[in-house]
Amino acid sequence: MDSIRITGGNELHGVIPISGAKNAALPLMIAALLTDETLTLSNVPRLRDVAQLSHILSNHGVDYAVNGKRNGQHALAGQTISLTAREIVDTTAPYELVSKMRASFWVIGPMVARMHEARVSLPGGCAIGTRPVDFFIEGLTALGAEIEIEGGYVVVRAPGGLKGARVEFPKVSVGATHTIMMAATLADGETEIVNAAREPEVVDLAKCLRAMGAQIEGEGTSVIRIQGVKRLHGAHHAVLPDRIETGTYAMAVAMTGGDVLLQGARGDLLDTALETLRQTGAQITETAEGIKVYRNGNGIQPVDVTTEPFPGFPTDLQAQFMALMTMAGGSSRITETIFENRFMHVQELARLGAQIHVDGHTATVDGVSTLRGAPVMATDLRASVSLVIAGLAAKGETTVSRVYHLDRGFERLEDKLTHCGANIQRISA
Ligand code: EPZ
Repeated sequence: MDSIRITGGNELHGVIPISGAKNAALPLMIAALLTDETLTLSNVPRLRDVAQLSHILSNHGVDYAVNGKRNGQHALAGQTISLTAREIVDTTAPYELVSKMRASFWVIGPMVARMHEARVSLPGGCAIGTRPVDFFIEGLTALGAEIEIEGGYVVVRAPGGLKGARVEFPKVSVGATHTIMMAATLADGETEIVNAAREPEVVDLAKCLRAMGAQIEGEGTSVIRIQGVKRLHGAHHAVLPDRIETGTYAMAVAMTGGDVLLQGARGDLLDTALETLRQTGAQITETAEGIKVYRNGNGIQPVDVTTEPFPGFPTDLQAQFMALMTMAGGSSRITETIFENRFMHVQELARLGAQIHVDGHTATVDGVSTLRGAPVMATDLRASVSLVIAGLAAKGETTVSRVYHLDRGFERLEDKLTHCGANIQRISA
């Protein structure tokens, strides 16, 4: 298995192009199931999760084409893909595929909306917690679907089609909002989603669905209204920039010191995280080209954070921020409120010399002046990248194993960092 070897201590200077957002690309690809015409998506990141989802969608009968590069296109530009679900040949999403990527469960919404039936494997637990699907089941039931759990599968039928309804989530869920919004586009009548997720990726999906002919309003607020239509058509949509990749590299610069332009990044997608970084002492300016992050020789100030749904501090940046806080000049408290088990990076950061004490959902981080390189590994994507950030700032050599986690969500991570002066290589086993 590949690993990443980092010799820490270099500042980062230069330009990092920000890729399209993984967590927008995935639901956008799934939206292709709603129409028999072609959905073309540009700025799609080249990631393992995207490849895995294309495989899952092919199983349902979706034709997937990656368009070639155009003249004058930047070598690092995201890919343009075309998805055509002319005919859905199989309404079953099998366990072998769904268990590899949780977001593939979301096909249940478009499939039942268009085919009036679906059989989708329960995704199972994952490294960051149990992650149930009760909101999806309650939401689809409210839209008139009949649901049974059979042999580990959610079997959903809506013989006369889905009917618009009021769906109120007990807690904000990104995936349940994506799924019910997609399902409601083809339902009969109006659906109102209350306590909807306000994440930028939900807004991006709503924009794409509207370009496909859906009638949606209120995305980006906690009430989304969808007026069902008879059919959707093809469209072209560009995936928005990845706010988590943006925040990750911003935290890397805040930790190592240096001066980097995060090209194509949009500050409005991560205001809270950028404001938190400013409080740690990093200077952040937004320009027409992207976001500039700068930290000179000054120390890192400790700052407390609590993860929250958007527009709060994102859970997907919690591990990276904890890495930064391990070298702050004092103590900080980091509270995770979204997932029950998202502190697996703590023990690995401790291997680099970090001082962290976990009590329930809160980690207290006592900053140290030096981290020292060590072999580490992680069990999820964001935890893995937090170890990369810490390794960039640590003295000596850090080896991060289980790199396949990073490949799920960070496009050409080592190339982007090498271009800014990091000493980082992938070692093929
Ligand atoms: C999305 O996951 C993201 N994944 C996650 O990013 C992200 O951490 C998460 O939203 C929160 O922002 C993708 O977009 C592909 P949720 P999702 O439903 O939709 C509970 C990454 O690293 N819940 O918003 O699966 C759930 O257990 C990934 O890129 C229920 O109880 O998350 C959690 O506590 C990791 N019942 C909370 O809601 C349900 O039916 C929020 O989860 C659904 C969710």
